[in-house]
Parts: sequence; C-alpha cells; structure tokens
Amino acid sequence: MPGYDAYSKSLETSPVTPEEFALLQKTIFFGPEDVKALRQAQKILKPQITEILDTWYGYVGANPHLLYYFSNKESGEANGEYLSRVRDRFEQWILDLTDANYDQQWLNYQHEIAKRHHSVGKNRTDNVNSVDHIDYKYMVAFIYPITTTIKPFLQNGNASQKEVDAMYEAWRKAVILSVILWTHPYIKDGDF
Ligand code: HEM
Repeated sequence: MPGYDAYSKSLETSPVTPEEFALLQKTIFFGPEDVKALRQAQKILKPQITEILDTWYGYVGANPHLLYYFSNKESGEANGEYLSRVRDRFEQWILDLTDANYDQQWLNYQHEIAKRHHSVGKNRTDNVNSVDHIDYKYMVAFIYPITTTIKPFLQNGNASQKEVDAMYEAWRKAVILSVILWTHPYIKDGDF
C-alpha cells in the first residue's frame, strides 16, 4: 500500500518511550481488558470498513474547513488522489489500532503519523502540493467524530450491549492515546 510504513525499519525512534507510554495507558485506565475488547471490535468493524470510511469521508467532505487540508495549495481544489491514498491507510489504521501490541515499532509508526499531520512531514508521503500543516485544534477535536461515529458500527455485530459498551470505551481510549502521540510535534520541546 503506497506510503504505509508501519513495518519499516527506517522509522525515527519515537520520542515517547515504552515506559512513558505505559504510564499514559495507566493514566486513562487502559489495560488488558481493553486490548481484548479491541480485538473483538476488529472482527465486527472489518467487514464494515468501507461504510466506516464513507461516514468519515462524508463528514470531512461536507466540511470545507476540513476538506481544505486535502486541497491543492494553489488552486484550493480537493485532491482526489491524495484523499484516496490516505483513505487506504486510514482503513489499515483501524485494523492496526484494534490489533496493536504497543511495542517500539508501533510507537515509532505513531510518531511517523504524527509528523505526517504536522508541517514537518505533511504531503511528503504522497508527494502532493497541499497545505503544509493540520492545525492542532482539529487534531484534538477529531477525537469526538472518530469515536462517536463508531458506536453504531459496533452495534451491528452479535455482541451484547455490555460488550458493545466495553468495545466503545476501549476504542475511545485507544484513539485518545493515539492523538496524544500524534500531537507530540505540536508541543514545545520539554513540555510534552
Ligand atoms: C493522515 C487518522 C486528524 C487530515 C491520516 C492517517 C490516519 C489518520 C490513519 C494515515 C496515516 C498513515 O499515513 O499511515 C486521523 C485521526 C485523527 C486525524 C484518527 C484524529 C483523531 C486529522 C485532521 C485532519 C486530518 C483533524 C484535517 C482535516 C489528514 C491528512 C492526512 C492524514 C491530510 C495525510 C497526511 C500526509 O501524509 O500528507 N490521518 N487523522 N487528520 N490525515 Fe488524519
């Protein structure tokens, strides 16, 4: 898949160590039960992945202030190829997040994704001439749509309401953890 580097050995080492990440997990009550719930969620989400991405892309497409980040810097037109390449990696990300082992390689790829949203790395992967930077405020704001929209999809499996709630909470924590790692480049040195 173009630009998908989760297993690349040449990634920069994450500035967040596994020990620091363990403390972050502890801080938001993320534990083995969440890992288990995410694995269960993957089975339910995988067959619906196209519909999930349709929902998220529908939301971005309906919001010019968000579609802007996928647009050509000069013409202002949305770049369809950019959108579609990112969509493929986004699909893969759902599968990766629900099956992660949170090791050094995983942390390193989170740092790569962080840089891809920030001016230090945006546009390079797909070699596009788009706007240079995604503003920090939207990184945090996206936690809400990326979590709330997943609930109906989790409900489409055969899980009990209690299991759906556990999967939803685990997904919410995993997305929050990801966004914490992804905003590292936005934070002044020494403040993270
Ligand atoms: C890239 C998810 C916030 C626009 C990506 C990728 C994923 C993702 C999985 C592909 C990573 C890869 O290359 O393997 C998310 C999640 C967010 C978030 C979960 C917050 C919860 C945002 C926001 C925007 C945005 C707020 C602005 C509308 C983009 C763009 C790329 C991208 C333009 C391509 C960057 C590049 O490599 O040039 N995002 N994203 N994302 N996302 Fe996000």
